[in-house]
Amino acid sequence: MTICVDPDWWQTLFDETYLTTDARSVCNEELTRREVDVFCKLIPLRIEHSILDLCGGHGRHTMELCRRGYGHCTVLDFSEPLLKIGAQCAQKHNYQVNFIQADARETRLKSERFDHVLILGNSLGYVPDQVSDQRILREAYRLLKSQGWLLVDVTDGQAVKAHFTPNAWHEINSDVVVCRHREICNNIVYAREMVLNKQCGLIRDKTYCIRMYEPQTVGPLIENSGFENVTVHTRFSPQQCQGDVGFMNHRMITTAQKP
Ligand SMILES: C[S@@+](CC[C@H](N)C(=O)[O-])C[C@H]1O[C@@H](n2cnc3c(N)ncnc32)[C@H](O)[C@@H]1O
Repeated sequence: MTICVDPDWWQTLFDETYLTTDARSVCNEELTRREVDVFCKLIPLRIEHSILDLCGGHGRHTMELCRRGYGHCTVLDFSEPLLKIGAQCAQKHNYQVNFIQADARETRLKSERFDHVLILGNSLGYVPDQVSDQRILREAYRLLKSQGWLLVDVTDGQAVKAHFTPNAWHEINSDVVVCRHREICNNIVYAREMVLNKQCGLIRDKTYCIRMYEPQTVGPLIENSGFENVTVHTRFSPQQCQGDVGFMNHRMITTAQKP
């Protein structure tokens, strides 16, 4: 392994620059609409339900839910810059959304507050120790009302391994290029991301690591957090971009219910 990663990398990487390096996935409204179409078919979301977009970033899925009339949405994320951008967007559209800055492992919110908890766009696996993902799922369980639904949309590690490319790059615009170098070890992808601007040179050089789950490991992880009726749907590939979009091409959706 040649890529060294600070275990707290996830506390600082998700900022305005991330929204440009990952814009093909997270700032594409049409793609987000297609994703929400699928989520709405898999769990019984109703407009009067309270919905938590856990690790929701700048709230792109919540904005789409609001557009469809869901009026009781909360976005919780660790990243202040992303929450601020989300709040500005909600204000612009006059959507009533609660934005909360917190660690998803311990939100300090009241128990049994939500009808649905959604963990979308590959938002597990960032804190390097495995126990953290279990803590996030147990927190989701605690926050859900009885009979409430969890929906987890994460990358399918099996598919990532099958299509693994150690090096990838793409242009954000005519001036900026994103280059990624990756290694895989024990179901964790380690990556170095460099962002180069033709005028100013290197504007970002960061490393990160993401734990991947497979269809046979994500179900037990969710069951061990107390959920039942766990169903894993594989082959979720809403991204139609032919390029290498990192973890966003091959995903799987797991739905589960709190007893
Ligand atoms: C890849 S982004 C996806 C964001 C959003 N769900 C989407 O699809 O656009 C992952 C998000 O998870 C958040 N995150 C990761 N671990 C977290 C934790 N322990 N507590 C709160 N947020 C966390 C990050 O801040 C980041 O915004």
